[in-house]
Formats: sequence, structure tokens, C-alpha cells
Amino acid sequence: MHFTRKVTDDLIWVGANDRRLAMFEGVYSVPGGVSYNSYLLLDEKTVLFDAVDKAVSHRFFENVAFALDGRQLDYFIIHHMEPDHTAVLNELLLRYPEVKIVCNAKTQTMIKQFFDLDIDAEIVKENDTLNTGRHLLQFIMAPMVHWPEVMMTYDSTDKILFSADGFGTFGALNGAIFADEVDFNADYMNEARRYYANIVGKYGTQVQAVLNKTIALDIEKICPLHGFVWRKNLSDIISKYVLWSTYQPEENGVMIAYASVYGNTENAAEILAGMLRSKGIKTVMFDVSVTPASEVIASAFKWSHLVFASTTYNAGIFVSMEDLVNDLVAHNIQNRTVAVIENGSWAATSGGLIRGKLEKCKNINILEQTVSIKSGLKPSQLADLEAVADAIAAGFPEPAAGAIPISANPTASEENKNGTAAPIDNGAIYKLSYGLFILTARDGEKDNGCIINTAIQITSKPPRISIAAIKANYTHDMIKKTGEFNISILSTDAPFSVFEHFGFHSGRDTDKFENCTSDDRTANGIKYIPKYTNSVISGKVVDAYDYGTHTLFVADITEAFVLSNESSVTYQYYFDNIKPKPKPQIEKKKGFVCKICGYVYEGDPLPDDFICPICKHGAIDFEPVK
Ligand code: FEO
Repeated sequence: MHFTRKVTDDLIWVGANDRRLAMFEGVYSVPGGVSYNSYLLLDEKTVLFDAVDKAVSHRFFENVAFALDGRQLDYFIIHHMEPDHTAVLNELLLRYPEVKIVCNAKTQTMIKQFFDLDIDAEIVKENDTLNTGRHLLQFIMAPMVHWPEVMMTYDSTDKILFSADGFGTFGALNGAIFADEVDFNADYMNEARRYYANIVGKYGTQVQAVLNKTIALDIEKICPLHGFVWRKNLSDIISKYVLWSTYQPEENGVMIAYASVYGNTENAAEILAGMLRSKGIKTVMFDVSVTPASEVIASAFKWSHLVFASTTYNAGIFVSMEDLVNDLVAHNIQNRTVAVIENGSWAATSGGLIRGKLEKCKNINILEQTVSIKSGLKPSQLADLEAVADAIAAGFPEPAAGAIPISANPTASEENKNGTAAPIDNGAIYKLSYGLFILTARDGEKDNGCIINTAIQITSKPPRISIAAIKANYTHDMIKKTGEFNISILSTDAPFSVFEHFGFHSGRDTDKFENCTSDDRTANGIKYIPKYTNSVISGKVVDAYDYGTHTLFVADITEAFVLSNESSVTYQYYFDNIKPKPKPQIEKKKGFVCKICGYVYEGDPLPDDFICPICKHGAIDFEPVK
């Protein structure tokens, strides 16, 4: 018997769940099962987006036949050739011999490799489109999110992104289809993180590239190949992808992974955890011989500080710890502070070997403080362990001298006791009359800035404002460290390029003021933006609140002046008048334009290592000429 669910009036989920699979890809345990999502579009033409694993082929074909209701299948779009989405290709072609496969050239090659089939496919490239009647489908290449042939499709008619492995989640759907039908944050976010970190965690740069491509699209729904469809609160998952793909931690806290044969290394790890807890620092602990590596890796993507405690084994790292560290290096872990503890009854080597592996990763700060145990921790070594705890604590933002104290979110634990609330509609939130601002800060000689949409006056006596800054932003970290910032209020003459320049790139990787000819600063020494803005306000932070992905800074106004009489940009104005609308039809010309400065490279393809001769941005910042 079929089991389908409607995503929209003419888009039907025809996938299937597998709760008997022990190990996804033969590596990742899936105790909650996994879904293989496939979607059928019933337009003037019928379109099947991806298929399923052979384990659930029977249910899938029942679903497709039911949803087609006697119509022929016109198109089969393959976003990803991994067999969990294509294993049934032969049977699909037997059942629907008239179907036209739509895929890119790399996929066609893989079809030959996997099935030895010479397919007369419709080959599509970046931004090619397919008109199916009412719907216009635009193809977006997403190489290495998870395999090189991966692509996504944007349905500009119903504003749906078919995101392939992107935004996927482990876990069977259990009757639900939409993320808002379950308590996603409580019940599934860990599995979304585990899926991301292990499946595409290595490819953060490529994920960033796709996020940058889709940022100009008006997306109302995301349909991934695994897990739930997103139709509400898309920012919940997109903000996580921004953090994960830039290897920024989600939370300040310490993940302690230990490998212990007879419990002595575990004992040291646990004492360290207690020392950290008594300093008010969150801790999680994993016995890496027991906990699946995929869970530990996911946790490493979440927390800011990592501790590895391992016994020595065969003159090396204990096997389960060695596997874990190798896995973390392979998954490109970055931007973490690490402490190492070793144990060895006669020749401890594990600590140095772990260090050697992690030193190859980008921006990993390995603390000098360490503990080398001989068989069991001695009372005389407690001071060494405390030194490790102190060194870790020193890296936490509060309440070290000069740093801004972070208060607990005062309302986060309060529950709505007024019965069932209506689900949160982002449309209502967008109606708030937000402005848009360039938030700037300075740390030493480094200037940086980013776009924010939340800056409001709180009191006039004293003059005080609040701003919310996303933790992934470098500007956020600078403000937390220095306690000072400027906001330049954007005016309606600001072009989209200003939003791209300050909003779509990280100051960690680029100098956003590199090509700036002027050096306008307020009395606090921080830059402000004199063009396309109408006012500048300087703030000195007096309080800060941790709200998960954001910090809310409350600041005294120390300086404020008007630059022009242009109206301020509101969020609504930005969407109506500045943000480019999705193009209904993409013209095909050969060439690529730099999104930063407009330089045009004539030719196709654009070499991967191409550097813009004008603004020095790489190929990632180019898009096909439209
Ligand atoms: Fe679900 Fe990369 O495949």
C-alpha cells in the first residue's frame, strides 16, 4: 500500500523510510532509521526528483504509481548519483521507459560507471532551466556537497530548493514530512549535525559556495534527500549550516573524548570535567571505545574546546582514539582550542602523536598545558590538571578582565503556559520595521564589518542601544573582546553590492576594507561607512546576553552624527527594491562575472584557481554572466 504526503498542491513526497538499516553507508549507525526522499511534481509534465535505496524500492514504486495516477513519467532529475538515491534506476527505466533523465555531465558518466548504461540524458549546466508548464526549474551545481556530481534545483514558481544531501537529517520521518511537525531542535538537531559533520563536514568551502549562490534566491521551502522538508523557520537550519560550513563552534563548552583501557585515563578526564564544571564551563564526555565516532565528530563540530585523553597502545595512540583523531582531521575540523592528556605505563607517546595529527588542521590552538600520566593520576599531578582547566577557562569569553560578561538568557527556560501557540510565521517577523546597518569593530590593527538588521534604541537617558550579532561573524568576536562598535545606518541609495560586500563574506578570510581609499573613523578609533549611509552611532558595551546563535549587546551611545538626509533602508525596502529578484529565464552566454567588483572573465569553464585581477577574489566569487 502506498504512503505519500503532499508538499504543495502539485508536489508529492513519494520517498520511503528504512528502519532496519544498521549502518548508513556501512559506517554510520542510524538507530532512528533514515528516510530516502523522492518528490513527484505533477505539472503539464511530470517530474520525479531523485529515487531511493534498493532496500525500500517496493514502497517507492507503489508511491510513484499512486501519485502518477496513470499519467506517464516525463522527467527524472538526478541530483546525486549515490546509490541510496539511484539504486533503482534500472527498474525505474523498465517501468517508465519513456522517461527522460535530466542530469549533469558528471552524473551521466557515473550512470555508465554504476549501471553500464548509455543514457540519452538531457545534460544541464549551472543556471540552465527546465520549463514543465507552470513551473520553471533552475539547476544549481553543488560539487562536493557530497559528491562531485551533486546539483540542486530551484523551483522559482513555488520557491522550493531541492537541496540534495544539503540540509539532510538522519532518522526516519515517522509519519511527519515537515520539520515543523516535530520538535526539531529537541529531537532532531543532533541528528542533523551528525549527518552534516560526517557526510559533508569535510567540504565546508563547497557548502559555503552553494550557500552564497542560493542567498539571492527567494526560498520558501527546502526539500532535502534525507530528513524533513523545511517550510517554516528556515533560518533555524540555515544558520547552523553557516556555522558548520565555516567550522565555527555553536556553543562555548568542552568536549572531552577519552580512550581508557582500565579506567585510569577516564578518571583523569572526569576530574578535569569536574574542575571545568566548577568554573561554570559546560562539558560533555565520550568514551571513544563505546560511542560511535560519528557522534563524537558531530559533538566536536558543536563545541568550542576539545580535550583528547588517551592511553598509549603499541607505542602509539589507543586504536579507537587514533581512529577518531584521524577522522576529525579528515573531516577538516578547524577553529578549536585543544588540550591533550596522555597515559603510558612505561613509554607515553599518545599525547605527542595526537598533537602531531591535529597540528595539521587549520586554526587549531593546542594548549601547552598537558598531563602525562604513568598508569594512574597522582595527587601531585592535580595541579597539572588544574593548569589545563585554567588554560581552557582562560579562553572563555567571561568574565576575564576586559572581556564583556555574558549573562544567561533571562527567558530561555520559560515555557509558554498559555496553551498551544500558533506556529511562528517568519512573514510576521519580517513585518517588523527593521533597519539594515553595517556593524564595524576594530581589534588592534584589524578592522572588520558586517551587515546586521537588529539595532534599536532602548533608553534615551542614558542614551543606550542594543544590537544582536551572530556569533559566527568575526565582528561579533571583536566586539566581545573590545566592547566597542559603530553602526552605520544604510540609506536607500545603497546598491546590492554593499550588502554583498559586507554581508556575504567573512572578515576572517578577507579584509573588507582592503580596497577602501578613505579612512573615516569615529572617536573610538573604529571605522564607519561614509557612503550609502545616513548616520553613524558609536556604542560602548555595558552588557551582553547569550542567545544561542547570537549575542545581544547593550551599549551606551558615545557618539552619533548624521551624514545625509536619505531615508534609512528598511528590511522591507531591501527585499522590494535592492535584493535582486530571481531571473525567470537565464540567458546563456559564455563568461563569468566577479560578484565583488564586476570584472568579466570571458570563457567557459572558469579555472578553479582563477583570481580576479581587480579585487583578488577567487573563482568562488564569480557567477556565470547573466
Ligand atoms: Fe544520501 Fe550522498 O547520499
